[in-house]
Amino acid sequence: MAEAFIEARNLRKTYHVGKIEVEALRDISFSVQKGEFVSVVGPSGSGKSTLFYLLGGLTRADGGSVVLDGENLAELSDAERTRMRKRKIGFVFQKFNLLPTLDARSNIEIAREISGKTDGDPAHFTRITDLLGLSKRLGHRPSELSGGEQQRVALARALINKPAVVLADEPTGNLDSKNSDVVLGMLRRSNQELGQTVLMITHNPEAAKYGDRIIHMRDGQIVRPEDDPQWVAR
Ligand SMILES: Nc1ncnc2c1ncn2[C@@H]1O[C@H](COP(=O)(O)OP(=O)(O)OP(=O)(O)O)[C@@H](O)[C@H]1O
Ligand SMILES: [Mg+2]
Repeated sequence: MAEAFIEARNLRKTYHVGKIEVEALRDISFSVQKGEFVSVVGPSGSGKSTLFYLLGGLTRADGGSVVLDGENLAELSDAERTRMRKRKIGFVFQKFNLLPTLDARSNIEIAREISGKTDGDPAHFTRITDLLGLSKRLGHRPSELSGGEQQRVALARALINKPAVVLADEPTGNLDSKNSDVVLGMLRRSNQELGQTVLMITHNPEAAKYGDRIIHMRDGQIVRPEDDPQWVAR
């Protein structure tokens, strides 16, 4: 078996809110091969977004390790981890995190500037924004875009640097079925044509099927599909 591209081992994360402790992740282990497309499903609050923050090096784990492309995130300095994230990971946040004062074009291009990849690929920009149906909205600020358009801008921003890993947190959460298909098709193309490893959180079983396989989470752990109440209830 080839060495895993992403290896999560015994990951733990507890949030502290006042005196209350929330165990968001309790001992999660799994691996993902290079070029896989994995869907992550599970009830609200089961720890999906937290898991992505840890995989993407945005938050430190309280225990366990993440090895991404041979690098143990815990052994990197903050600066090294940030650098790795900018170069290798495309993050689609559940809440988009677009910059309100910038138009769509700049919100997408800023990811390239931040990564230091100055050798811009204008054809790639055009291709992605065309495929995502954004070409006529590039001059709009987030407040002048619909929720679904903002979501597609966030995806374009995540893909602009051709990252090795795409972590997409509910990329179709606000979309109708037509636009969901556009976004899912884009992720599948990225996966198949550019060989990008894609992890996608979704609440939509139809969307989840785009993945090569599905990871089910519940109460901060990975469970068997039959132990995922929402999945079984369908
Ligand atoms: N910054 C935080 N501080 C304290 N508790 C948090 C924080 N972020 C998340 N939590 C808690 O940790 C648990 C896991 O949250 P997480 O956002 O990972 O869930 P999720 O599976 O992504 O849910 P959803 O499907 O609603 O997005 C929840 O109980 C949540 O209330
Ligand atoms: Mg979430």
